[in-house]
Amino acid sequence: MTIQANLEDPDAVTAMFEKIDKFCGGVNGLVNNAGIGLSKMAHEVSEVEFLHLYAVNVHAVWRLSKQFVNACLQRKEVGNIVNISSVHAHSTQTRYAIYASAKNAIVGLTRGMACEIGPMGFRVNAVGPGYVHADQNYELIKTWSDDPEQWVRDFIENHQALNYEINAVDVGNTVAFLLSDLARCITGQNIYVDNGTTSLIFNRDFT
Ligand SMILES: NC(=O)c1ccc[n+]([C@@H]2O[C@H](COP(=O)([O-])OP(=O)(O)OC[C@H]3O[C@@H](n4cnc5c(N)ncnc54)[C@H](O)[C@@H]3O)[C@@H](O)[C@H]2O)c1
Repeated sequence: MTIQANLEDPDAVTAMFEKIDKFCGGVNGLVNNAGIGLSKMAHEVSEVEFLHLYAVNVHAVWRLSKQFVNACLQRKEVGNIVNISSVHAHSTQTRYAIYASAKNAIVGLTRGMACEIGPMGFRVNAVGPGYVHADQNYELIKTWSDDPEQWVRDFIENHQALNYEINAVDVGNTVAFLLSDLARCITGQNIYVDNGTTSLIFNRDFT
């Protein structure tokens, strides 16, 4: 079953949780995956662009987490949250300062909520994907490269320790692990699914 809502609209989110309660009897797992990108120098970003990015990537994550926790508490149950952050929470690149700042906010929210609601039995973690390959990314890459397929091949070779593509399923597998009891002692963490991008300075042998 799919229940949709504009996550920027508090009333729509409340209605969505009411429908979830009605049709599914409540849920015990929340994955905050919805997010938008922004590729622009911080000093050129408009008020509208900044507020929209934060509305979806930060404000909505808090809003859903709040409603999810309260719905679980009302049913006298516990739950488990996984937020999708990004490698941009670790290090970033030109034109991604605002996006990176929002993803760092997610890591802070993850840690803070893990501390606050851990004693009640809730776990809160984040997953930080690296470059996740999807055909639609070519449209974005076309904004800075004439040959997006070559750009992806170069990125994988030069900016990942493991030289193969990360797919959405690779991220989903880590989310499923964190939602499961296999991760029962893991909370407050941001786990990078990045084929080694955040560990790498140079992918070249200088010896
Ligand atoms: N693709 C990557 O390489 C990559 C890397 C790191 C992190 N991420 C993060 O992963 C998550 C998913 O990204 P993706 O690449 O699959 O993007 P995507 O654009 O394919 O999916 C994002 C989804 O969010 C939804 N969404 C956006 N605004 C919404 C709103 N106001 N209300 C309800 N839904 C809304 C969209 O409808 C879309 O289905 C995002 O949080 C993104 O920041 C992606």
